[in-house]
Amino acid sequence: MLNRIDLNGKLALITGAGGGIGRATAIRLAEAGMKLALSGRDPAKLMKTAALTGRPLDMLCLPADLTTEKGRRDVMHILTGHFKKLDLLVNNAGMALSCPFEEITEAQYDQIMAINAKVPFLLCQQALPLLRRSDCPTIVNIGSVVAHDGYPLQAAYAASKHALLGMTKSLAKEVAAEGIRVHMISPGGVMTDMIRIARPDLDGADMIQPEEIAEQIAFLVEHRGNAVVDEIRLHRPGKEPFGK
Ligand SMILES: NC(=O)c1ccc[n+]([C@@H]2O[C@H](COP(=O)([O-])OP(=O)(O)OC[C@H]3O[C@@H](n4cnc5c(N)ncnc54)[C@H](OP(=O)(O)O)[C@@H]3O)[C@@H](O)[C@H]2O)c1
Repeated sequence: MLNRIDLNGKLALITGAGGGIGRATAIRLAEAGMKLALSGRDPAKLMKTAALTGRPLDMLCLPADLTTEKGRRDVMHILTGHFKKLDLLVNNAGMALSCPFEEITEAQYDQIMAINAKVPFLLCQQALPLLRRSDCPTIVNIGSVVAHDGYPLQAAYAASKHALLGMTKSLAKEVAAEGIRVHMISPGGVMTDMIRIARPDLDGADMIQPEEIAEQIAFLVEHRGNAVVDEIRLHRPGKEPFGK
């Protein structure tokens, strides 16, 4: 039987919620009745997302630059003041960079590693105590196909998403016995501002819609079945591994 979670009244923090995948995710999870903390740098974009959910009063807008220690501290401080627990963390904020390898500056490398790899790492650390109070604790990190392969002009972006994948895999195993699910979704081209700017040459008609990624995130948090975990034995605390 499917172990389906009723998301009504559950709590999520979504980073990068001011547009693209983050906004679509906010709208989808709000439809399911979740209360959301929306993070991004631009307050106007966050307020627009909150309005688009149709339930702006259940949305907590937390504008901050997450690459700064102060920004992360402010977000977590306000979040813990409002939410005594967290059911879902969506690490979605990120940036792309398309640049010849030898032209990537140290500053660009540091910037992309900070928002794509370091910020999710630190937010996972800070969110775990809140997630432990949930009966369906879930983390979804938004990776990319570049986390699994290399592409010309994508060395810094690929390095950051490979780092995110490594963290995700390790954390997933470390907290599995506690019932905390840690996933990564690795989309190809999604029709958002990011790709419109980074790859104006691409035809949007063939791309993934942000609502499709939102649907996958909703599925992962809503379904606690074993089809989406790769080491089922780790999710059965106290029981013998399958096959023994
Ligand atoms: N679009 C694609 O083709 C594609 C494919 C694979 C994976 N992805 C991944 O999907 C995620 C979402 O991207 P998207 O396509 O939806 O692009 P997007 O619309 O540009 O969204 C990126 C979000 O990240 C936020 N952000 C960036 N730097 C930040 C910072 N320092 N502090 C706080 N927030 C910051 C932005 O907030 P502000 O706008 O407020 O600055 C923005 O809302 C990214 O991790 C991206 O790598 C995208």
